[in-house]
This record gives sequence, C-alpha cells and structure tokens, in this order.
Amino acid sequence: MARSKSSSRWLKEHFSDPFVKRAQSEGLRSRAAYKLEELIERDRILAPGMVVVDLGAAPGGWSQMVRRALGRHGDVIALDILDMPSIPGVEFLQGDFREESVLAAFEAMVGGRAVDLVLSDMAPNMSGVESVDQARSMHLCELARDFAEQHLKPGGTFLVKVFQGVGFDDYVRDLRKRYTKVTMRKPKASRARSPEVYALCTGFRAGAAK
Ligand SMILES: C[S@@+](CC[C@H](N)C(=O)[O-])C[C@H]1O[C@@H](n2cnc3c(N)ncnc32)[C@H](O)[C@@H]1O
Repeated sequence: MARSKSSSRWLKEHFSDPFVKRAQSEGLRSRAAYKLEELIERDRILAPGMVVVDLGAAPGGWSQMVRRALGRHGDVIALDILDMPSIPGVEFLQGDFREESVLAAFEAMVGGRAVDLVLSDMAPNMSGVESVDQARSMHLCELARDFAEQHLKPGGTFLVKVFQGVGFDDYVRDLRKRYTKVTMRKPKASRARSPEVYALCTGFRAGAAK
C-alpha cells in the first residue's frame, strides 16, 4: 500500500531528526526527553532527593531523564495508558488517568509522599479533528492540574504540556492563581508546527484556588 504524503514526510523527518539520532546514541527512549532536558538545564527544576511524578510517561524518555538527573536519591513515579518496559528506579502504573479507579490506584502508589514536581506530557490519540483533539487535551491538562493540587508540597512545581487553542487562555489564567509564577516554554525539540507549549508553574500555593 502506498504511504500517504504526511506519513512519508513524518518518516523522512523522523530519521533525519538530530534529536532522534541523539536519543538513539544516548540510550533514551524518546526524542521528547530533550524537551525536558532543556527545561532541567535552563530552569533547574530538579534536585537530588526529589519526589517526581511523570504523567503520560511512555515510552519513558522523561522518566529516564529524571532518573538520571536525580542520581541515586529521590523517587520517580510514572503512569501511562500504554505499557512501558521497566526502568530501574522508576515505579510505574499502567492505566487511563481519566478513570477514577486508576487515579485511586496511582494515589495509593504515591502514598503519603509529598511531591516536589509533577510532570505531564500527556497527549490524547489524535483524531485529526482539531476541536475534538483540543477538548481531549484540555481535559487531560485539567486532570493533571487537579492531581498536582492534591499532591504537590507547598512551593512545588508543575510542568504541563498544553495545546494552544480553545480553553488555553482560561487554563493558564487558572494556573496563575495556583502558582507564584507561570512561564511558557517552547523547547527546541518541540516541533515548530506543533501547537504544544509547556506551562512551567513554580511556587505552588496550596489552597489558593479555593
Ligand atoms: C508525548 S507522549 C509522552 C512521551 C514521554 N514524555 C517520553 O518522553 O517518552 C504522550 C503520552 O500520553 C499518554 N496518554 C494519553 N492519554 C492518556 C491517559 N488518558 N492516561 C494516561 N496516559 C495517557 C500516551 O499514551 C502517551 O504515551
């Protein structure tokens, strides 16, 4: 079967992409890891001993990057709807974050640990219908925000992928109530044509949104 123009373009871009090549040579599971690396280096969001939650973790590039940055100390607790081959030092739960039973199981895994950093790189399976994809993505962002609200320690950090489109401005406005500082980041490894940006929210103000 002939490949569509867009999938041929994707394959060509993928195999000539410097981040894909680097990920392969550095033993990282995704080019997405370099988006996080840029923020780790620029914004210093990680320190040894931290407790970090990684939502939408598969295939595992961010979890690997966090584990490396934390060294031997600290915890990485990850979740994805897809299975993820294990990474030493990363606790993983497979399940749909939108389901209450999965959320409850994940919360039990986090237990009483106060979380320093919540990451969400979750993105829905794209249907190609922009309004549907945008609504699904915003829903995941809201769930991640609510999880962070429940588990972050005061002063903690939340980093979330958000698609620019309907609901974006309201979502960011809401984040600004909950965090001392909210900064938009578009890392170099994020494709220019993608509407994704990362909201980096620092200084969690517990109870501020109530
Ligand atoms: C861009 S990928 C994450 C890549 C990852 N940060 C890495 O570096 O390997 C987005 C992930 O979000 C996950 N995801 C989407 N919807 C989800 C849901 N409802 N519950 C849990 N994970 C979800 C997808 O399965 C996918 O693995």
